[in-house]
Amino acid sequence: MDSQNKYIAIYRRFRPETFDEVLGQSHVVRVLKNQIQTGNVAHAYLFSGTRGTGKTTIARLLAKGVNCLNGGAGEIADGGATRPCGVCEHCVEIKNGAFIDVAEIDAASNNSVDDVRDLREMLVYPPQLGRKRVFIFDEVHEFSKQAFNALLKTLEEPPENILFILCTTEPNKLPQTILSRCQRFDFRRVAASEIADGMAGIARKLGIEASDDALALLAQSADGSVRDGLSLLEQCVTSGETKLTRELVLDVLGSPGDDAIAALTDDVHAGRTAEALVRVNEMLAGGKEERRVMEEWIDWLHSALLVKFVKNPERIIGRSAESIAEIGRAAAGYDVAFVNDSIYRLSKLLNDSRWSPHVRILLEITIVEMSEKKCLN
Ligand SMILES: Nc1ncnc2c1ncn2[C@@H]1O[C@H](COP(=O)(O)OP(=O)(O)OP(=O)(O)O)[C@@H](O)[C@H]1O
Ligand SMILES: [Mg+2]
Ligand SMILES: [Zn+2]
Repeated sequence: MDSQNKYIAIYRRFRPETFDEVLGQSHVVRVLKNQIQTGNVAHAYLFSGTRGTGKTTIARLLAKGVNCLNGGAGEIADGGATRPCGVCEHCVEIKNGAFIDVAEIDAASNNSVDDVRDLREMLVYPPQLGRKRVFIFDEVHEFSKQAFNALLKTLEEPPENILFILCTTEPNKLPQTILSRCQRFDFRRVAASEIADGMAGIARKLGIEASDDALALLAQSADGSVRDGLSLLEQCVTSGETKLTRELVLDVLGSPGDDAIAALTDDVHAGRTAEALVRVNEMLAGGKEERRVMEEWIDWLHSALLVKFVKNPERIIGRSAESIAEIGRAAAGYDVAFVNDSIYRLSKLLNDSRWSPHVRILLEITIVEMSEKKCLN
């Protein structure tokens, strides 16, 4: 790392500069690309959905797309550049937050009505350098009632050459009057397989040799959020590692790992209560977290269940073929009722333990119940 440069987090260094680099969200990308290319961009958009899935990223791509100096209407058919190009002067300035006609306003820190009044005063000016002035309102649900009212007035009579992009994780907090004036896109959680693919490319650029199962595990832990996935990747490589292995990821996640989970399941299934209790206490003593153990266990059992019914489960389970084969071998000895029952109990435990100061005791009780019930059968 260049010591003169401020350190920049991986997820910020690798923000997509063109639509082709976006992972998932194809339902959004397809429509926006087309609208930009044909000049049919609406005057107000609402991007809603889970955090870290690309709302701000795509808002900036749209801002670039309408102001990009390359490509444009009528040029798709003859193979012209797709907007945004990511490299022209306007695209680069927007990327650096230095383009005069694009303003990004974080409503969480600018929610007084005065700011929106200022904004309305600003709206009378036409774009200076670009085709459209773009206002991106991040976390727009933080707006006050007065701020919404002021914004609404502008949305009712949208000035020409102005584009509003509202982003929020909580669209239910927005007034219906605002919602009904925006073209709305719901951002989805990104599939683990797509996050893994994206991370593989980033790891390569960073000079990190990452194994497929390490990336699959990271992507799965990201739970649909690309930013969470990249933050986890970052945690794994901060101490200068150039090799990313599944073991390293397990260690960073504080996760017990498949082998330990498989052995625990086997003890419980066979009714070896004492062994199961010792085993789980060893995991906790080794620094694993109770809730992490429960989550991993549920995930392992879920995979075991799918392996029983689905022929090629690689696509729906975020694991390597190798680890799926191992789970398959273990699961062959269990009937579906045992797997289902275990998932029910552990899910209930995960929920019940959320506010409990006795998470460890609850986990032990559940293990005893799972194991002893087996003995009674
Ligand atoms: N769909 C995606 N494709 C590729 N990278 C993504 C995607 N979504 C998020 N990222 C990565 O995560 C970072 C944060 O994404 P972004 O700011 O767009 O998320 P967001 O949906 O606006 O989240 P929040 O709700 O927290 O504001 C980006 O810089 C990028 O590295
Ligand atoms: Mg955002
Ligand atoms: Zn451009």
